[in-house]
Amino acid sequence: MNDHPRPAAEFGIRAARTDDAAETDRLHDICLRTAASGKDATGSFEDPRLPGDIFLAPHLRYAPDLAWVLARPGRPASGYVLGVADTASFEQTLEREWWPALRARHSGKPVREGSADAFARKWIDRPPTAPAEVAAAYPAHLHIDLLPEAQGGGHGSRLIHTLLGALRTRGVRGVHLGVGKANAGAVGFYRHLGFEQLVEEPSAFILGLSLEGPDGDRI
Ligand SMILES: CC(C)(COP(=O)(O)OP(=O)(O)OC[C@H]1O[C@@H](n2cnc3c(N)ncnc32)[C@H](O)[C@@H]1OP(=O)(O)O)[C@@H](O)C(=O)NCCC(=O)NCCS
Repeated sequence: MNDHPRPAAEFGIRAARTDDAAETDRLHDICLRTAASGKDATGSFEDPRLPGDIFLAPHLRYAPDLAWVLARPGRPASGYVLGVADTASFEQTLEREWWPALRARHSGKPVREGSADAFARKWIDRPPTAPAEVAAAYPAHLHIDLLPEAQGGGHGSRLIHTLLGALRTRGVRGVHLGVGKANAGAVGFYRHLGFEQLVEEPSAFILGLSLEGPDGDRI
């Protein structure tokens, strides 16, 4: 008999199963558990689906072919990366088809001033859009979230490179993202991967990475 514990199976990357309700629930949970500047926001939101309904679900619906998850074989996902190749067109689709339904669902519900729900509700009512010059030079954008169990092992980097490879195959010029200034870990991660600061807002940066030329080829 072998008394040695079996090593944990390796994390792998696969396409998100967007028609699998259990997986979608799990991805919503990951979104919530990383929504407080990269830390767990469980308990901060009275409606725990709010972060996912803003940052996750529209991607699964409108850009399912640029959504990957990180998971051990036979286990629920521990992280995801989501991309959109054409941010301007995505934003128009959401303004037409996604935000109105979400606004209607939340309209009239009481919300406490200064709460996480209030912040999310403001986002839904007036979703920020990418500055035109950012969307022109860096048309794609991305979101990435890993649970603590999956962080620090190179998986975030592998997920990003999976997305960047797919964007390059489509001939996309560049990719941008928004990151809160309070999320120092993520800012350091993106900078380490070669993302540069494009815009500084009061509480967030917009960072970008060119997918053309020598810099784009490097990463
Ligand atoms: C941010 C996050 C995606 C990074 O993924 P990760 O798997 O933890 O990072 P990796 O292990 O892949 O790191 C890749 C490289 O970046 C480096 N790195 C990571 N964080 C860094 C930091 N804060 N400063 C400098 N370098 C950093 C690593 O050392 C590694 O370098 P190497 O490839 O030269 O060895 C992940 O930690 C996460 O999901 N955090 C919580 C949610 C979150 O904040 N999401 C982003 C919201 S905008």
